[in-house]
Amino acid sequence: MKGIILAGGSGSRLYPLTKLYSKQLTIIYDKPLIYYPLSVLMLGGIQDILIISNAETIPLYQKLFGDGSHLGITISYKEQAAPNGIAESFILGEEFIGNEGVTLILGDNIFYGNLDFLYSAIQKKKEGATIFGYRVTDPERYGIVEFDRSGSVLSIEEKPREPKSDFAVPGLYIYDNQVVEISKNLKPSPRGELEITDVNVEYLKRRQLSVEKIGRGVAWLDTGTPEALLQAANFFGVIEQRQGLKIACIEEVAFNMKFINKQQFADLINSIPKSIYRAYLEKVLEDAE
Ligand code: TTP
Repeated sequence: MKGIILAGGSGSRLYPLTKLYSKQLTIIYDKPLIYYPLSVLMLGGIQDILIISNAETIPLYQKLFGDGSHLGITISYKEQAAPNGIAESFILGEEFIGNEGVTLILGDNIFYGNLDFLYSAIQKKKEGATIFGYRVTDPERYGIVEFDRSGSVLSIEEKPREPKSDFAVPGLYIYDNQVVEISKNLKPSPRGELEITDVNVEYLKRRQLSVEKIGRGVAWLDTGTPEALLQAANFFGVIEQRQGLKIACIEEVAFNMKFINKQQFADLINSIPKSIYRAYLEKVLEDAE
């Protein structure tokens, strides 16, 4: 299973910051936003990851992550010339995906809580698509899933004026290899984008779409607006200060997932300048000894 983080976009709601680079580099409490979706893919057991973004931002991601080998993963990069839609990921990523399945996460989506549901969905994936449903109070803003009484999916609609349910589809999607061919055959929507909802509708037509509801024990935040960024920073600040544990600390995740061994973890820590972040990792290593 390959992983893609879509981390470009126009970020118009965060202008003027996005004049400089894409929003996934903004800080959420104590680390860049993109650490959160990257850690989610890693916790899903994915070790081969493509980051898609614009030409201005890719060099900055490269500075942050390099080729990913220090984390025991492989990170590669691909330019998206313009924000042509989420489904363009699979066209840009065709070569990277090869013959495999792929999990896509949007670079501004954060999941927090017990993520076992994701790990098992990724690890047991065979054919078709698995997406998720999460209850929200503002369904008009999202792709919305309608279920029948038995829980089967009846429809999916993008930003419906009159939503048929409160279940939004978060920016986390698991697909088999058909996604490449499906995306290549999409036509741009009236707003000029290759829509991820159209991909999901095609899987639904093929009777190969499964939608798993995510319960209230998991927090899903998307961070497209200044208010949402502030809320996310406060949320993670509260939890990190209370527990003394970091969330989405990718070096710790790499060690816990056994992508790197103790020696590699120690070497990685030594390469980090003296900082609160480094002191935290030193404590993680000490606790493991
Ligand atoms: P959106 O939140 O839909 O859009 P945006 O980030 O461009 O922001 P705004 O609405 O304020 O203009 O994008 C969701 C995520 O997907 C976000 O992380 C950006 C990313 N994205 C791309 O990288 N390329 C694209 O073509 C699109 C549509 C989104």
